[in-house]
Amino acid sequence: MDVKHHIFLTGATGLIGRYLLRNFLQDGHQVTVLIRPNKHQSVPERLNDLITFAQIPKKTSSQIQAIEGCLKDLALSSSDFNKIESCDMIVHSAASLSFHKNMNGEPWTTNLEGTRNLINVARKTGIKRWIQVSTAYVCGQQEEKVYEDDHNPASTQNDYESSKRAAEELITQQQDLDWTILRPGIVVGDSNSGYASTYQGIYHCLKSVAFMSRKIKPDNNGNKKLPIRYNLSGKEKTNLIPVDWVAEAITQLSLNPETINQYFHLTSQSPLLAETLVDAVQDYYELTGIEFIGKDAPQPEDKNIYEKIFDRETKRLGPYFQDDPDFDRSNLNKFLPGLEDFNVNKAFIHKLLDFAESDKWGKAENKTDKRKAGVDCNEFFEIYFPDAASRSKIARIKNLNISIGFKVHGDHGGGNWSCIIKKGDVVSVKEVSFLPDSLDVYYSTNHEIFEEIVTGAITTRDAFFKQHLQIDGDIEKALLLSVLLEDLLQEIPFKPTNQIRENICA
Ligand SMILES: NC(=O)c1ccc[n+]([C@@H]2O[C@H](COP(=O)([O-])OP(=O)(O)OC[C@H]3O[C@@H](n4cnc5c(N)ncnc54)[C@H](OP(=O)(O)O)[C@@H]3O)[C@@H](O)[C@H]2O)c1
Repeated sequence: MDVKHHIFLTGATGLIGRYLLRNFLQDGHQVTVLIRPNKHQSVPERLNDLITFAQIPKKTSSQIQAIEGCLKDLALSSSDFNKIESCDMIVHSAASLSFHKNMNGEPWTTNLEGTRNLINVARKTGIKRWIQVSTAYVCGQQEEKVYEDDHNPASTQNDYESSKRAAEELITQQQDLDWTILRPGIVVGDSNSGYASTYQGIYHCLKSVAFMSRKIKPDNNGNKKLPIRYNLSGKEKTNLIPVDWVAEAITQLSLNPETINQYFHLTSQSPLLAETLVDAVQDYYELTGIEFIGKDAPQPEDKNIYEKIFDRETKRLGPYFQDDPDFDRSNLNKFLPGLEDFNVNKAFIHKLLDFAESDKWGKAENKTDKRKAGVDCNEFFEIYFPDAASRSKIARIKNLNISIGFKVHGDHGGGNWSCIIKKGDVVSVKEVSFLPDSLDVYYSTNHEIFEEIVTGAITTRDAFFKQHLQIDGDIEKALLLSVLLEDLLQEIPFKPTNQIRENICA
């Protein structure tokens, strides 16, 4: 008989989670999702978007309900507990994908402490079945074949991998949970439509080539050359897998009680080679010039501007553009013999790029978000700053010549701005896709700290000394400018036109 479950799903607003939600609802299961509000949308608004994405008829939308909450601080009310009590399974997909520990303690707070908090909820509500969405990279840096039940992982390559491994260990130690551990490779857009909800990881590399391709002028024969020498051989394997394929595997394995106490690699049987990826991208943007030259790659100081931009963007990818180990898939093949392998080929990469380009790499949405955000970076840099600077002490320092790069992190509301001041006059401020290497000073922070600085809640110097603001380039000039910015904000306070919706998950 086709058993219908009531699933408590975390991470439903994420790339994988939204596909899981869609599969569970379309299969007729009841789903309770844990959602937190963000700066731009309340929980009901986010839930509505998910219902639209799930493409379920309105009358079936009673199959889904939401609980508002953040894993880091799961203070659930008694009515929330009532909503969860009838659940018979937790599918835990939420995670922080930050590679390195940041000032909020991520990825550890969500990935380990958040999992611990969720275990407490499972215990209080008597839920025993637990599906843990982990990652294939909990194996750490391995050259040998990695088996699904391998319990001798090598040292991990970043906090993300360590925190995901620690969460797996925490789950498998719980005697009262019937767990299944699922470990995807690198997840990219939909195999049919190319759809992606975010552009993280490998997308940073693709986006940097897309950007540079627009800057390169064709030669007399109309050919464009992007001169990048890369320190790989081209034969390195990378485990890209489409989100719909991963979600299908997770859905089927979750619903099969025989997968209890088993580990699964959700990886590709024929991983993509770095040279195929580059070939596909060059072909798409009608470029040549990217070369794999292995160990002969130039030293950092000898790199050209394109190589520096590419390095800066690929650095965020960490080890995932090196060489993947062989991931054994015996368990997956045994349990899902009918799951067809997919072919990550040139045509698929083109589909991903088609979608990303038509979505302006998420920019179309970001523009709306920036307008909705309380502190709009564009408003600050492009409207307030030039005007306020012309009326401030800055304008009176006639020997002030400086070029500045501002980087505000955050998928929603962030961006890069370059600013030139000549003889105390702000002669240009513009939003750019990438900051050039030629500027005198660079400030970099996240959107929350940016808001605190520009609304006067903290000073730039405090943010810098507490390591919440990173300064690069000519530090002396940067610190002098920090003082001027503080004075500017005191003299002519910045008043954002919109108000921020409080995020309960501070
Ligand atoms: N993407 C990959 O390449 C990949 C590869 C292997 C494994 N995985 C694993 O797959 C799972 C899903 O990843 P994804 O690609 O879907 O990531 P994603 O698109 O970044 O989504 C992450 C989800 O987790 C939620 N979340 C994060 N912190 C939270 C918190 N403190 N409280 C409540 N919810 C929180 C996010 O909610 P908000 O929308 O509110 O931020 C979002 O729904 C993760 O466990 C990840 O480790 C991903």
